[in-house]
Amino acid sequence: MKTTISEVDEQIYRISVEVPPESIPVPGGFTFNQYLLVDEEPLLFHTGPRPFFPFVEAAIEQVMPVKNLKHIGFSHYEQDECGALNEFLAAAPGAKPVCSQVNALINGGGMDRAPNGLADGATLRIGKKTLRWIDTPHLPHGWECGYMFEETTRTLLCGDLFTQPGSGMAPVTEADILGPSEAMRQGMDYYSHGTATNSLLHKIADTNPVLLACMHGSAWRGNGKILLLGLAGKLSGKN
Ligand SMILES: [Fe+2]
Ligand SMILES: [Fe+2]
Repeated sequence: MKTTISEVDEQIYRISVEVPPESIPVPGGFTFNQYLLVDEEPLLFHTGPRPFFPFVEAAIEQVMPVKNLKHIGFSHYEQDECGALNEFLAAAPGAKPVCSQVNALINGGGMDRAPNGLADGATLRIGKKTLRWIDTPHLPHGWECGYMFEETTRTLLCGDLFTQPGSGMAPVTEADILGPSEAMRQGMDYYSHGTATNSLLHKIADTNPVLLACMHGSAWRGNGKILLLGLAGKLSGKN
């Protein structure tokens, strides 16, 4: 496995752990991305699965001391999103988990420090940057699912949305990611297809993101509203 760290916007780093095709049943391999937002109160979004902890920790140390992390956010409660949460809480004594209120309610007991469960629309100021929590239950999966939107850079930490197969891709791309992510979804549909899917995609599209910080594959720069509405169309079978 190879781990890389790249600055994808000002003081926003993508930490990517690449798993080769022979180790995972995904064509071309797979990437697991964490995003580090460096500010007065540094925030890590996603930890990676528990066995990845040493790799993600070493990558963060290239930019800042891990012990200074103050927030560890995650979209939903799954190994790749927060499997190494308790290892990070042990390494960073001042850090708190950050997640949805539902996640805090149903999974808080598994977190070694009490989580900061954010309500839909609540903001978290970490210094120059401010993050807004957006509830997206069951999109793509998990009742507790949600995303964070960084307002100064208009970066949407969009988790499993636009998951692309493969490894070794660029940290950021302006090329199409909807096509590759839809091709993957055809063979491995990880969506819940809840009744609110369309309205939730419109809700997050209304943040007008210019950078989509995908958890699997390249981050994407462009008109995020159009891409999110394109995904809404695909999921509703309208295009
Ligand atoms: Fe997931
Ligand atoms: Fe994921």
